[in-house]
Amino acid sequence: EEIKEIVKYESDRFITVIPEIEMPGHASAALASYPELSCGLGKTYVVRDYFDVFDEVYCPKEHTFEFLQNVLTEVMELFSSHYIHIGGDECPKKAWKKCAHCQHLMKREGLSNEEALQSWFIHRIEQFVNSKGRDIIGWDEILEGGLAPNATVMSWRGTEGGMKAVESGHKAIMTPGEFCYFDSYQDAPDSQPEAIGGYLPLSKVYSFNPVPDTLSAEKVGLVYGVQANLFTEYIPTPEHAEMMIYPRVLALAEVAWSAPSKKNYENFHVRALKAVEELKKSGYNPFELKNEIGNRPGADKPVEHLAVGKKVTYGLDAAYYPGYAAGGDTALVDGVRGGWTYGDKRWQGFIDKKRMDITIDLEKETELHFIGADFMQVCGPEVFMPAEVIISISDDGKDFTELKHIEHKVVKDDKVTFTNFGWEGNAKGRYVRYQATSGEFGGFLFTDEVVIK
Ligand code: ACM
Ligand code: ZN
Repeated sequence: EEIKEIVKYESDRFITVIPEIEMPGHASAALASYPELSCGLGKTYVVRDYFDVFDEVYCPKEHTFEFLQNVLTEVMELFSSHYIHIGGDECPKKAWKKCAHCQHLMKREGLSNEEALQSWFIHRIEQFVNSKGRDIIGWDEILEGGLAPNATVMSWRGTEGGMKAVESGHKAIMTPGEFCYFDSYQDAPDSQPEAIGGYLPLSKVYSFNPVPDTLSAEKVGLVYGVQANLFTEYIPTPEHAEMMIYPRVLALAEVAWSAPSKKNYENFHVRALKAVEELKKSGYNPFELKNEIGNRPGADKPVEHLAVGKKVTYGLDAAYYPGYAAGGDTALVDGVRGGWTYGDKRWQGFIDKKRMDITIDLEKETELHFIGADFMQVCGPEVFMPAEVIISISDDGKDFTELKHIEHKVVKDDKVTFTNFGWEGNAKGRYVRYQATSGEFGGFLFTDEVVIK
């Protein structure tokens, strides 16, 4: 009855609501109620936090397909949408690797690995949806095993998946995490209710170009549109959801219907301020754009200090994580400060050996008064402050004298915090070594710049 109400609401307004039935991963809710649809490895399924769900997956047995086809049949009867979103993202393979049925099925079907089993699963479901005269949409992982002719790709891990889909004649909807995940913070995290992380201000949404220049004119039409995503793990009320949506969705709408050359953020910002007032008058709860704080202080322009442009050497076993290189070996002395999120390509991440260890060569003996680095903590994705920081100097790059040794108790919290670990005083040296080590929780260390004055 609730769905019928939604369908009436959409048809009264000439819009279409597309349902998503997620498979084969992100199945914890279904498996909590129907554990027999899992690989049956004795696990109890509960609906939990996002970061715990990575081994919760349907087992591709006949009973599962019967269940999913029944669900999809009911969904297709209720919804008028031609498109049915079947998920397909973040399919965990751990259970499949251990499951006798899955392994037997892979042998029978000539599937060389679990990735191929994922594709087989999606193709089977797609054939079923097609047999009912509907077409599927799936997250960009559905590209992995080759796309069926009518599939539409929702590109969330960047726009590359969408580009690939379009190049092969499929439709794509662009919704990359960097620009379209409205569950991210839209302003300074300490001014906002707790969110999943990230930082996506209005200006960044507005700057999105969903149709990359490299796309040929005949393919542009296959980019069907854009989507804002609002996953609600951290959004307990409708009013909170409205605050996350407005006014960012206005920016995304303008992105969707405007040629890039016609966009002008200053002009849009004035209109967005007015729209926020109108929305409030209509009883909505938009984000108060007029009070926007903006990016982290210092992130707007490069900082000057003694280490900028100097040579950095990374200690053995202390390489940064390639996925968070922030520009590589020069990132920590490039004068570029990080913003509110470690995902902005300005923060360098360390995880493999749980430590950071860099030595900066100032090229000549230098008077030193300050050596410090900011770290950030956001516990959800396991980004923690260091438990120990050692700052030392040397004349020859071999024998170092400790200037400061900081022990820090890492305490979990639900905030995004930034702390400087530094030394102040008077010293002279040519080489500066900065070491930081993770504490009991492990996880990532993230820092953006080692500032020397
Ligand atoms: C997604 O955010 N997992 C599509
Ligand atoms: Zn299985």
